[in-house]
Amino acid sequence: MLHAVIMAGGSGTRFWPASRKLVPKQLLPLAGESTMIQATSERIESLIPSDRQMIVTNEILVDAIAKQLPNMPRENLVGEPAKRDTAPCIGLAAALVAAKDPEGLMVVMPSDHVIGTNDQFCDAISAAETLVNEDPTRIVTFGIQPTYPAESFGYIQRGSELDSSHQLAPSFDVERFREKPDRQTATQYLESGDFYWNSGIFLWKASTILDALKQNQPAMFQHIQTIAQAIGTPEYEQVLKDEFCAIEGTSIDYAVMENYPNVCVIEAPFKWDDVGSWQSLGRLHPSDPSGNTVVGDHLGIDTRDTIVYSNPDHTVVTIGVKDLIIVQTEGATLVAPKSEEERVREAVKALQSSG
Ligand code: GDD
Ligand code: MG
Repeated sequence: MLHAVIMAGGSGTRFWPASRKLVPKQLLPLAGESTMIQATSERIESLIPSDRQMIVTNEILVDAIAKQLPNMPRENLVGEPAKRDTAPCIGLAAALVAAKDPEGLMVVMPSDHVIGTNDQFCDAISAAETLVNEDPTRIVTFGIQPTYPAESFGYIQRGSELDSSHQLAPSFDVERFREKPDRQTATQYLESGDFYWNSGIFLWKASTILDALKQNQPAMFQHIQTIAQAIGTPEYEQVLKDEFCAIEGTSIDYAVMENYPNVCVIEAPFKWDDVGSWQSLGRLHPSDPSGNTVVGDHLGIDTRDTIVYSNPDHTVVTIGVKDLIIVQTEGATLVAPKSEEERVREAVKALQSSG
C-alpha cells in the first residue's frame, strides 16, 4: 500500500517577518488561497486519502497544522521533540509506516514547493510506484531541468535510460547524486547537460529506506530502531523524546542519497517551483503593468518592480520607489532592496540574540 509522508518541520527563515517560529512558511498562503501545507496534502489526496497521509513536523507546530488540516486524523500528525533535519524525520516516518504496513511504500513530499496540477502530480507518483514495484530496493527521485547553477539544490546525474512498464516520462538509472555543490561545480553540471535538480520528492519502500539508514547512519538507525520497538507501548512518548533528541541531525540527501547505489530518476512531468524567498513571489503571482507583485493591499504611485506582502486590511502606500521588498505583518515590517534579500537571515539572527 502507498502512504504519503509530508515533511513540514523547516523554519523558512528567508520569509521573515511573515514566517515566524510558530508560523513558518509551510503554514503561509504564499502561492494562492491555500497554505503550502494544505496545498501539499490536497495534491496527493486523490491517490492517497488523508488516513494514509502523515505529517511530520516540530511538535510546537502540531496544533497549528491540525487547525489547517481539520480532516487529517490527529494521530497522523507526528511531532518531533527536536529539529534534526530530514534524515531522522524520514527514519521515524518509515518506522511508523512499517509498523502498520511492513510491505508499505511511501512517497516523501516536502511542503515548500509549488507544483503543476494535482492530476499531473498523482500520475507521476503512480509511475514512481510502478518503478518500485518492479524493483523494491529502488529509490525513485524526480528530476527538474536546471535553469541556473543553483547551490541550494541537490543534483542528479542521469545514467542509462530505464526499460520500464510505466510510460509516463523518461526515467533513468542515477549515475550520481550530489547535494548542494558549490557554484563552480554546479556550473559544470549545468554545462554537461546530463544533470537534473533534485525536486526533494522521493518514493521508496519503507523497509528499503530503513535498511539504507542502517547501512549509512548506523547510530541514527539505532535510535530509530529503539523508537520503533516502543511503538504502541505506554513508554512511547518518553522513548521518542530521549532517542530522537540524541540523534545527530543531517539531511536525507547527505545521509543516504549521495551513497545509495540503486537510485533512479523520473524526469518530472509537472511544473515545479521552489518557494525559496520573497523574490519567488514575483514568479508565483501575476504582476501589475509596472512590474509590482502584490499580495495584500497596495497603492503604488510611481512605483516599479516592487514586492508587497501585507495584511489585506492594511494598506501599504509607496511613492517613487523601485526594486523593493516590503512585508507588513502584525508584529514586524520589513523594507529592503531586492538585491539585499539574502540579508533577511542577518535580521533574524540579530533579533534572536537581542531576545
Ligand atoms: N519534519 C521535519 N523535520 N521536516 C523538516 C526538517 C526537520 O527537521 N527540516 C526540514 N524539513 C522539511 C522542510 O519543511 C521542507 O518541506 C523539507 O523538509 C525539505 O527541507 P529543506 O530544508 O527545505 O531542504 P532544502 O530545500 O535545503 O533541500 C532539499 O530540497 C531541495 C529541493 O527544494 C534537498 O532534498 C535538495 O536535494 C533539493 O534539491
Ligand atoms: Mg527547501
